[in-house]
Amino acid sequence: MAAAAPPSKKGPAAPEITLRPFQLSDVDYLLAWMGDDRVSHYTAWDTLASREEALDYLKNTILPHPCFRAVCVGGRPVGYVSVRPRTGTKRCRGRGSCSFAREYWGREIAPAAVRAMAAEAFREFPELERVEALVDVENAGAHRVMEKAGFVREGVHRRFYVRKGRLWDMSKDTYIEGQVEGTRAIAGSKKLATKNLEEQSMAKTKPWNRDRRSKHNWQHRRDPWIEKA
Ligand SMILES: CC(C)(COP(=O)(O)OP(=O)(O)OC[C@H]1O[C@@H](n2cnc3c(N)ncnc32)[C@H](O)[C@@H]1OP(=O)(O)O)[C@@H](O)C(=O)NCCC(=O)NCCS
Repeated sequence: MAAAAPPSKKGPAAPEITLRPFQLSDVDYLLAWMGDDRVSHYTAWDTLASREEALDYLKNTILPHPCFRAVCVGGRPVGYVSVRPRTGTKRCRGRGSCSFAREYWGREIAPAAVRAMAAEAFREFPELERVEALVDVENAGAHRVMEKAGFVREGVHRRFYVRKGRLWDMSKDTYIEGQVEGTRAIAGSKKLATKNLEEQSMAKTKPWNRDRRSKHNWQHRRDPWIEKA
């Protein structure tokens, strides 16, 4: 999907970006930012030391991930955005993340990419209601990016992680569905997707249980939630 970034203060216009799934052939692009200590300074992942490590990360972490997208400028990956939906009672939440190659910092690519990712995640996962980003409180650039993308800071988790030799205080920045442009279209697709899920689920139910299920079915109990969309 394509998303035009807003006009940049630093140049005539921010470049147009597209999001797409990663491919194994993206390994060298990936290494350009995941092999850079300045990019990984505030991230949960460690700097990758070699092309082999980058290939391993692509195969074992990125490709099996439900929603991990390359952010491309002119067709070339310059960073990533991802949203991982949670499960069970937390399935209304997704955890977001992003990083970009250093040579592309300061070009206002990040807020456009984060917004596009949130919109795509809400379309892709019908039960998603909020996308959360945990950001190190010292990571001023990432905070500003989240703010520009429409995320709202809900609070700070103090002493939340121990990694890379220090304790990390993490703020939780959140994006709630409905803030994304084109919400009506998204809400329509959510309603449809929810109905399809219910139909699929009912088809798996034994015929003698269907009547009982239809009286107490999941969609019936969740009607107010669906109507909200
Ligand atoms: C954080 C990151 C995504 C920011 O990307 P970027 O390309 O610098 O972002 P932009 O150019 O779109 O800048 C967005 C805003 O942040 C501000 N900003 C960027 N870096 C900043 C910094 N270090 N301190 C304060 N503000 C900063 C910019 O000035 C701009 O605000 P403005 O439009 O009001 O001037 C990028 O630096 C990155 O990939 N960092 C490494 C990975 C990372 O930290 N990911 C986040 C983990 S949650």
